[in-house]
Amino acid sequence: MLREYDCWLHKRKFEIDFEIPLFVCADEKGLVGSQAVKEYCLGIKRLVGIEPKLTKSKDNSCNAVYLNSSSASSAGSARDEFSIKVTETQIFITSSDENGLLYGVFRFLSLLSMREIKNGFELTDAPASSLRMINHWDNFDGSIERGYAGNSLFYKDGGFNYDKTRIEDYARLLASVGINRVSINNVNVRANAKLLITEKYLKEAKKLAAIFRKFGIKLFFSINFGAPWSLGKLASADPLDPAVGQWWKKRAELIYKYIPDLAGFLVKADSEGEPGPFQYNRTHADGANMLAKALEPFGGEVIWRCFVYNCTQDWRDLKTDRARAAYDHFMPLDGSFEKNVILQIKFGPYDFQIREPVAPLFGALKKTRHVMELQITQEYTGHQIDLCYLPYVWEDILNFDTAHGDNSKIKDLLKPTSTHYPLPTNHYIEGLAAVVNVGLDNNWTGHTLAQANLYGYGRMAWNPSITAKTIAEEWSALSFGKDTGQKVSDILLKSYPAYEKYNAPFGICFMVSPNNHYGPGIEGYEFSRWGTYHRADMNEIGIDRTPSGTGYTDQYSPKNAALFADAKTCPENLILFFHRLRYDYVMKNGKTLLQNIYNTHFEGYDEVVAMMEDWKRLEPLLEAEVYKSVLSRFERQLNNAREWKDQINTYFFRKTGIADEHGRKIYF
Ligand code: GCU
Repeated sequence: MLREYDCWLHKRKFEIDFEIPLFVCADEKGLVGSQAVKEYCLGIKRLVGIEPKLTKSKDNSCNAVYLNSSSASSAGSARDEFSIKVTETQIFITSSDENGLLYGVFRFLSLLSMREIKNGFELTDAPASSLRMINHWDNFDGSIERGYAGNSLFYKDGGFNYDKTRIEDYARLLASVGINRVSINNVNVRANAKLLITEKYLKEAKKLAAIFRKFGIKLFFSINFGAPWSLGKLASADPLDPAVGQWWKKRAELIYKYIPDLAGFLVKADSEGEPGPFQYNRTHADGANMLAKALEPFGGEVIWRCFVYNCTQDWRDLKTDRARAAYDHFMPLDGSFEKNVILQIKFGPYDFQIREPVAPLFGALKKTRHVMELQITQEYTGHQIDLCYLPYVWEDILNFDTAHGDNSKIKDLLKPTSTHYPLPTNHYIEGLAAVVNVGLDNNWTGHTLAQANLYGYGRMAWNPSITAKTIAEEWSALSFGKDTGQKVSDILLKSYPAYEKYNAPFGICFMVSPNNHYGPGIEGYEFSRWGTYHRADMNEIGIDRTPSGTGYTDQYSPKNAALFADAKTCPENLILFFHRLRYDYVMKNGKTLLQNIYNTHFEGYDEVVAMMEDWKRLEPLLEAEVYKSVLSRFERQLNNAREWKDQINTYFFRKTGIADEHGRKIYF
């Protein structure tokens, strides 16, 4: 049964129909390679209850498991690649680098746990992307921006303060699904976090880096672009001022003395009030390149976020369209970034809404390295109170065809890089980054079933062609065993569509309560400065983003621009993102837009009721602790779904005066 803390690596001893050799032959000397061997032994003990014995005999003659990270047979293979081969008496897990061995061991263990390992089993696998990153939005006071699972794993009371074993357990969980980069502090770098790049905190950061290093994970620091001014007491942070460049070079020298393999800096600049190059009339290429030059001697990279938009918009201004911002700012800079700059682009043009189109920079950027940013933490998707299985929508995102040339789906554009600083001569996406959903709660994620989102993110970053269904089944089987798991997986798969139905309709976005972003706030953002308006009146709703409106659709490839610009071909789950429509607009199912809004909201609520009933039926199969904690979340979710349903339906009824054709209860 599930011990929540152990997540998908829980201790489940079971009888296996396959004989695990008692000996492990390995001669791993490197840090990650020897960790892989350790993990193998720990994993076997956890799953089978036996403690394998280590031996160095290498002639492949004993009944043993052979772990080898310098396998000649895999010469020329991709980075992080591994092979598993199972014969009647022997098992071989091989790779051509140490991380690959670690990933191979973890995959073997999960396949064993899912009872898929048998005589004759063979698998060779490699990740689709090089950068598989987790972003922490953790603050030094211990709070987490948009965190819903307790306080920070890393910080407390203004500085580092962590349980070493817990961090090691965390690094293990991440490595087990292939994560290889972690940024450890909030992109909004405030208060003491500004001092992370000083000796005051570097000593501690070095210790943290050492824990992650064993698991093949390198760290990024989020930095404050204004540091030369706020920390270094220079007159400005102007990226073209040589004194500023010099200041960052010296800073990099100091940082790399402590952490020689730091992956680099993550930067939120000119975004929601953070300092940036615009303050000095410089471009984002000027800003990113200046930092890139400081990190280059140490092999570091600058990940520069594209979340740049006017956050002091006047709601009366009908012309400015926030959705256009990232493309308008960054597309003209394509090709002007240093080789060690990677742009990090949110998957959609807004901000992690329940349904957004994929941002038009993907597929369009041809000469700039870039990655896609997702959000695992459930900021707009229910705060880990509501069940919302995110791989469901990530699958849609990864399958989106940018229609820039052939093989232009996001999942096809994700490609590993072969060198450290690849030349950005193509439009490949180098990986995924995601804001994580963990904290100090015993089960890491607040809602136990939200562990599936963390697991799923890692699996999809590794293999963007895997389906949300497969991931749900894997995670559930690993966590609950195959039979119970199947039932849990069915619930997971129902959760995203249910949430989407009782949330904002048809891609309209931002009907959420302002600031905390939980529960309905239908006009919460209508008269604010954030640029996210739906402009509902008594006849119509939505923003016209076609060429007759803001022209946003033209940021897409011609094929997609045409697809989105025509309401008849635009996917209906996004129709209000692209179009301003009358409530009596007839949708594909023959019902009006308004009737569809009513229907989806009633249905979404009913689907939560049904998921909760499904969960109740699982009680005899589950540990009481898990059963109860998830049930109590469903109870809270039901209240939330009820508020969304009733407030949205009432709102539109009051606007339009048109009743639900089924006469269901609407409050007015
Ligand atoms: C959202 C979120 C902020 C966060 C920002 C970001 O706007 O609400 O808390 O800082 O995204 O991605 O930088």
